Amino acid sequence: MSYSDQPQKLTIAMPKGRIFEESVHFLQQAGLQVTSDLKESRKLIIPVENAHLEFILAKPTDVPTYVEYGVADVGVVGKDVLLEEERDVYELLNLQIGYCRMTVAGLPDWKPTEAPRVATKYPRIASRYFREQGQQVEVIKLNGSVELAPLIGLADRIVDIVSTGQTLRENGLVELEHICEITTRLIANRASYRMKSEAVDDIANKFLQAIPKE
Ligand code: PRP
Repeated sequence: MSYSDQPQKLTIAMPKGRIFEESVHFLQQAGLQVTSDLKESRKLIIPVENAHLEFILAKPTDVPTYVEYGVADVGVVGKDVLLEEERDVYELLNLQIGYCRMTVAGLPDWKPTEAPRVATKYPRIASRYFREQGQQVEVIKLNGSVELAPLIGLADRIVDIVSTGQTLRENGLVELEHICEITTRLIANRASYRMKSEAVDDIANKFLQAIPKE
């Protein structure tokens, strides 16, 4: 076998956390031999036997970083993370899973103030949105439990993703403005897309077949 006949090995970055379960189910739908290892193990690099594939399990916000630097050829990631991280990667497919929305939320009796503060895990998305609205706000970056901020007087509003709406409801907050819809995407490293086109196409096709039909 010549060098060029060697099957190209592909590394896929998978996000741990919110969209992990749904993403694993998606891989299984795509016909990839994903064992229970991926769900249960604490291992961060998981090879797939006989498939010239390996998974790396990453913090969701780091998936585009691994893909931009080429240590992962492709990655599964939420559009929220892509919009926030602004990494130089190819967006190959909208996987139509992991549906949620990016919204501005706050207390129902929220009143505009002169120098409003907005708490969020997504400072770039929030800054861009309010700039486009022509509103001056101070954006405060938090790393989680953002819903706390209006309750304890840290911020007037929050920018966050809403899925079932349960977190907002249980904390007495309401959606005030809709920013955009979010779904999970398949992304690729630009060099891998050219140099490993066969393997990337193959995986993209498998993913394509698994996209839920309307
Ligand atoms: C996300 C998001 C909201 C919640 C929305 O947080 O930031 O807090 O989920 O989901 P819901 O509308 O179904 O209630 P996550 O669970 O990722 O945790 P975090 O707050 O620690 O970031």
